[in-house]
Amino acid sequence: MRSFADSNGDGLGDVGGLRARLPHLAELGVDALWVTPWYPSPMADGGYDITDHRDVDPRFGTLADVDALLEEAHGLGVRVVVDLVANHTSEQHPWFVAALAAGPGSAERGRYFFRDGRAGGDQPPNDWISAFGGPAWTRVTSPGGAPEQWYLHTFAPEQPDVDWSDPQVQQGYDDVVRFWLDRGVDGIRVDAAPAMAKAPGLPDAGHAPGARFDSHLWQDSPHWDVDEVHAILRRWRAISDGYPGDRAFVTEAVVHSAERLSRYVRPDEMHTTFNFDFLHAPWRAERLRQVIDATLAALRPVGAPPTWVLSSHDDPRHVTRYSREQPAERGGPVSGPADLAVGLRRARAATLLLLALPGGAYLYQGEELGLPEVEDLPVDALQDPTWERSGHTVRGRDGCRVPLPWSGEAPPFGFTATDVRPWLPQPPEWAALTVERQSADPESTLSLYRAALRLRRELPGLAGERFRWDDDGDGSVLAFTRGAGFGCLVNLGERPLPLAGRGVALLSSSPVTDELPPDTAVWLERDPAT
Ligand code: GLC
Repeated sequence: MRSFADSNGDGLGDVGGLRARLPHLAELGVDALWVTPWYPSPMADGGYDITDHRDVDPRFGTLADVDALLEEAHGLGVRVVVDLVANHTSEQHPWFVAALAAGPGSAERGRYFFRDGRAGGDQPPNDWISAFGGPAWTRVTSPGGAPEQWYLHTFAPEQPDVDWSDPQVQQGYDDVVRFWLDRGVDGIRVDAAPAMAKAPGLPDAGHAPGARFDSHLWQDSPHWDVDEVHAILRRWRAISDGYPGDRAFVTEAVVHSAERLSRYVRPDEMHTTFNFDFLHAPWRAERLRQVIDATLAALRPVGAPPTWVLSSHDDPRHVTRYSREQPAERGGPVSGPADLAVGLRRARAATLLLLALPGGAYLYQGEELGLPEVEDLPVDALQDPTWERSGHTVRGRDGCRVPLPWSGEAPPFGFTATDVRPWLPQPPEWAALTVERQSADPESTLSLYRAALRLRRELPGLAGERFRWDDDGDGSVLAFTRGAGFGCLVNLGERPLPLAGRGVALLSSSPVTDELPPDTAVWLERDPAT
């Protein structure tokens, strides 16, 4: 929301900017648009700290603007998905303000997790940790200033977790879901889904001192991916099934395995879920192949479509991730200097891989321009709570959130009015990456995305679920067939791969001759009989 386009000259993206730039999305060829939170918020966590889930922050616009956005997007054939943040509210939400005022034992505190501390009250109630660093508990003081109870926050202290066993919480969020479905949104993205249920009694998780929030490693955690979360998802699915049209949910769930993830998309739960295993896989053929296989195998029994994603507003942009020496495994050390030319080459190849796989693909704004992570933002510009919470050791996610470059030769590149500074500074070298510049260049990354998304709609071989690995080679190649007549080949090795006899190239991520160069992907039209 904040980084797409600004229409009112405050340096912050808004609904008006989104409306003005809808033609870009339609021309790009996307089916739908997911908007990160636009709700009233003190912005302690980029809008994921909400004071009113049924309104729009004045910095972003009004509900009337949202209605106009829905109408215009639908007119262009683009659906709209909103973000539902139901694990926590803002500390300034009326519920939390009332909870603080009402004191220990009150019904108002029952909507959150308030507990007495251990060791006479001075220690947090358990060892749970926050996703942004440090303990997941903060102590409050009584109106007289005396230290009092603690409250739970999986994310920043400004984002207290709500207690989903409380009927008022359940009812409150039912109303939120209905509010947006009534307004005509086509889908809902469920934020931090695995955090929404906690094990009864809030037992210790056994975290080592200084442990990181590596939720993809956790099994049987008392505060992540607890089975009761599925009751919440079923509740929402039942609500949305009562609405006309195809409304779809997508969950954000970084969990231990593809099998655990598949539980979020059982027939009476969510429709799709982001595939973070794919996003976090290094640029290595064997790892990507494992993730693809595990994803397809885990989702088949529940009948949900797979999805694929390379970047998000929470992760370093994949051009930069792929620009360094690749770790053997997810989370392994990424080392060496960045070679952004290599990173972009791999990113373009990864795009053709992503868009050739069966199921849905999620794109993160700016990847269609091949934007790199901005790793050298001045520290006084950093806004991600991770920076403060980590004691200035982890910069956080601002580097992937730098406002988009639309046009012109210098910042703000058409993102906002010429004399206004965007909320995060843009690198001057992005002059070469603007939408305007890339639209005029048939070899640009933007042109590649447009061509790939168009073919993805048009080619019959890319419809449906058919997927088969071709038996290929030395472990540095990904080669597969979709429907009859369509093949995809990705060379992740160091040597060129002969293309003779493999079919006719339809689209390639970098120029190809009779060989497929390293870090290049190609879509092929084959003899349908093969
Ligand atoms: C999700 C969002 C992230 C946010 C967090 C807390 O992970 O994607 O941006 O900080 O939830 O709401």
